[in-house]
Amino acid sequence: MNANGAGSAAERIMVALDYQEAGSALDVVRKLDGIPCWMKVGMELFYAEGPAFVRELKDRGHKVFLDLKLHDIPNTVRGAARSVTRLGADMFNVHAAGGSAMMRAAMEGVVQGAEGGALPQVIAVTQLTSTSQDMLNEEIGIAGSVADTVVRYAQLAKASGLQGVVASAQEAGILKEACGSGFVLVTPGIRPAGSSMDDQSRVLTPAQALAAGSDYLVIGRPITAASDPRAALESIVKELVHS
Ligand code: C5P
Repeated sequence: MNANGAGSAAERIMVALDYQEAGSALDVVRKLDGIPCWMKVGMELFYAEGPAFVRELKDRGHKVFLDLKLHDIPNTVRGAARSVTRLGADMFNVHAAGGSAMMRAAMEGVVQGAEGGALPQVIAVTQLTSTSQDMLNEEIGIAGSVADTVVRYAQLAKASGLQGVVASAQEAGILKEACGSGFVLVTPGIRPAGSSMDDQSRVLTPAQALAAGSDYLVIGRPITAASDPRAALESIVKELVHS
């Protein structure tokens, strides 16, 4: 990998805390104490436990990706972005389908919320990976291929001032080509060799994802459902350091 050492490898892993309540999530977080990985908090956990849980993660020294996929009129997203920035999120996301005015409003909210301090990274959701070609064309009414839509949304996000997108690592090559190497790619669908696929279908190993151009790897169950989450994370870090 390009970055050096185990610390920086861990800093590229975002552990997906897909839990209904704080207790179970904290059981895992405690087991990862001292490892400088990010924590990803999505809608399920945030709507149950709210800002207090995010503060707990921050107090424990983790960076937090708040995966709330904001999508509303610009004024509302500006306010939401201000609030999540004040809360201390280090990264959050918005739907590119909300359009450039909405994404620019999110960036304004970030500046307001940061009050001169560090700005969180704002990334876009392009086309959800659950969208089939048929759904895109027939239900949503967007012509063309899913891959073209992903690239178009990513370019719109970049033009609106966002730092990157959530995407499959399989799309990393075309996205870096379309948006430049500095455009941040956050990629789920990662499975260490030999681990269960769960409900993922197109997966890459952590090392393959980094080699493909991913900047951050979102990894949930291979760590959180492991009998020893700390050993699972440490072995992924080791794989990255030696790749
Ligand atoms: O447990 P697992 O590693 O499959 O978790 C992946 C995480 O990434 C989950 O939080 C899931 O919601 C998220 N995600 C995904 N695929 C996408 C977008 C997000 O798996 N296309």
